[in-house]
Amino acid sequence: METQTTTKTIGLVVGSLRHDSFCKKVANYLAGALKGQFDVTIVDISDLPLYNEDLDHEGSVPSSWARLRHDVAALDAVIFVTPEYNRSMPAVVKNAMDVASRPYGANVWSGKPGAVVSVSPGAIGGFGANHHLRQVATFLNIYMMQQPEAYIGGIGGAVDANGVTDERIQGFLQQIAKAFTDWVNRLADA
Ligand code: FNR
Repeated sequence: METQTTTKTIGLVVGSLRHDSFCKKVANYLAGALKGQFDVTIVDISDLPLYNEDLDHEGSVPSSWARLRHDVAALDAVIFVTPEYNRSMPAVVKNAMDVASRPYGANVWSGKPGAVVSVSPGAIGGFGANHHLRQVATFLNIYMMQQPEAYIGGIGGAVDANGVTDERIQGFLQQIAKAFTDWVNRLADA
C-alpha cells in the first residue's frame, strides 16, 4: 500500500518589528536551514491590537486576531526568535501568544512542538527573555525543545545588511535546526 507523507509547516514568530532586526536575520537563516525538511513561514504579528477581552466576541474580534489564530492553527510546529526587552520578552510577542491562546478553550498553540531562540547584541544572549517565553509557552501546552538551549549573544558583529555572516553562529543555527527537526519528528512518531 502506498503511504502518503505530507510536508509539515514550521512557523517562525519573530519578536521584533524593527526593519533591520537582528532577530529577523537569525529567523531568516533558520528558515533556510529548515527548508529542506519543512515548509517554513514567518507568522505575521505586526498588526495585532493589544489583547482586550471585551473585543473577543462574535462581531467584534479584530480581523488580525482572527487571521493570527487561523495561521497558528495551521502550523505543525513553532519557533520563537526573540530579542530581550528589560530582561523579558517584548510585548509584541507576548501579545501574539495571548491573542492566539484565546478565547478560553480555543488555544491554538496547544500540542505543537516548539523552541525558542533568544538574540542580543549583549553578552547574556537574551537569557531572561528566553526563560520568560518558555514559562508562557509551557502553560500554553507547547512542547518546548529543552536542548540545545539557544542564547545568541554578540549578534551585532555577526550579521551584515543581508543576514547572518558569522560562521560559528551559522553552525550553531544549523545545529538548532537539526535538533528541532528531530524533536518534531520524534513527537510526530510518539
Ligand atoms: C533593549 N535591549 C536589551 N538587550 C538585552 O540584551 N537585554 C535587555 O534587557 C534589553 N532591554 C531592552 C529594552 C528595550 C525597550 C529595547 C528597545 C532594547 C537591546 C536589544 O537587544 C536591541 O535593541 C536589539 O537590537 C533588539 O532586537 P532586534 O530588534 O534587533 O531583533
